[in-house]
Amino acid sequence: MPANKRLLLLPGDGIGPEVMTEVRRVIDWVGRNRAVSFDITEDFVGGAAIDAVGKPITDETVARAKAADAVLFGAVGGPKWDKLGFAQRPEIGILTLRRELGLFANLRPALVLDPLVEASTLKPEVVRGLDLMIVREATGGIYFGEPRGVDMLPDGQKRGINTEVYTTGEIERVGRIAFELAGKRAGRLCSVEKANVMESGLLWRETMTALGAREFPGIALSHMYADNCAMQLVRNPRQFDVIVTSNLFGDLLSDLASMLTGSLGMLPSATLGAPDARGKRPALYEPIHGSAPDIAGKGIANPMAEILSFAMLLRWSFTLEDEAAMIERACTNVLATGLRTPDVMAPGCTKIGTTDMGTEVVKELDRLAA
Ligand code: IPM
Ligand code: MG
Repeated sequence: MPANKRLLLLPGDGIGPEVMTEVRRVIDWVGRNRAVSFDITEDFVGGAAIDAVGKPITDETVARAKAADAVLFGAVGGPKWDKLGFAQRPEIGILTLRRELGLFANLRPALVLDPLVEASTLKPEVVRGLDLMIVREATGGIYFGEPRGVDMLPDGQKRGINTEVYTTGEIERVGRIAFELAGKRAGRLCSVEKANVMESGLLWRETMTALGAREFPGIALSHMYADNCAMQLVRNPRQFDVIVTSNLFGDLLSDLASMLTGSLGMLPSATLGAPDARGKRPALYEPIHGSAPDIAGKGIANPMAEILSFAMLLRWSFTLEDEAAMIERACTNVLATGLRTPDVMAPGCTKIGTTDMGTEVVKELDRLAA
């Protein structure tokens, strides 16, 4: 009997707890029906942690995250905590986890499911069948670079400073993940930076070129400036297979890419670190949508991004490909029947809430397993 998989659930704020409630039903379903069992721990993060224990994440929570086989995250942030100083903000919860667990590779898919092709604000012929993956560096660059801060100039002005900084090692390790991923997909990798204006961008380009030539000669590597990439993503998104880019550009471009699909409420993500000596890779999974305070507590949030994040968890942390694919199929099938949460509502469809959507996904899993 293999040991139970240890999951740490961090629902966080806003719609995080609501969508986490639904994913728990899916986790329970997998535990009941498939040859895998989970030990689940739940903890506070973000504003919920500020309210409960006075800071956005505690050392104990970080330790639990390190001890777990995988972390499933909800979302953090909300107007209630907007006035707090920088170091106390809810966002520090996720940034601390990325840094402390060494989660340097953030995988953000943008996938247009057939039943939702009309949900995009772009024309169906532009986005139909879209399937791209952004690999965003997540523990370096301007998010963490030193020097940083606000200082005072002799003339009485203040000066805000953040530093974009990357070493070859940091570029190579995220690059390898992106190349490997491209190898499992269509074999095309586009590396994105601003080598025309930033030294760190030029180093990024040179390092990716050398890495590709040395270790991944079979992958078609191309390069693009980040501003052009933003434009190309809207003009013709299907030209991309895998994109690899820095922390800040990845933050921007992944929001853009996710909106090509028409619903933030559908998109999962994974953030991975380096495997340890025993081969265990730290990993955190989270929906892209964030805490959505405007709809929190109303029971209308789409739980699918969180459910699909759990599918990614099964695939990446436990190589449970069949179970992951089954959950993805269940989500697509439910959408195809015309049941929709408000964010992906379309003419002729039936609007349902968060809990009912969870129920439908579980029912569909029962059907698929029968
Ligand atoms: C994201 C978010 C975070 C980021 C915030 C919440 C710190 O925007 O995951 O994309 O900027 O990385
Ligand atoms: Mg973001």
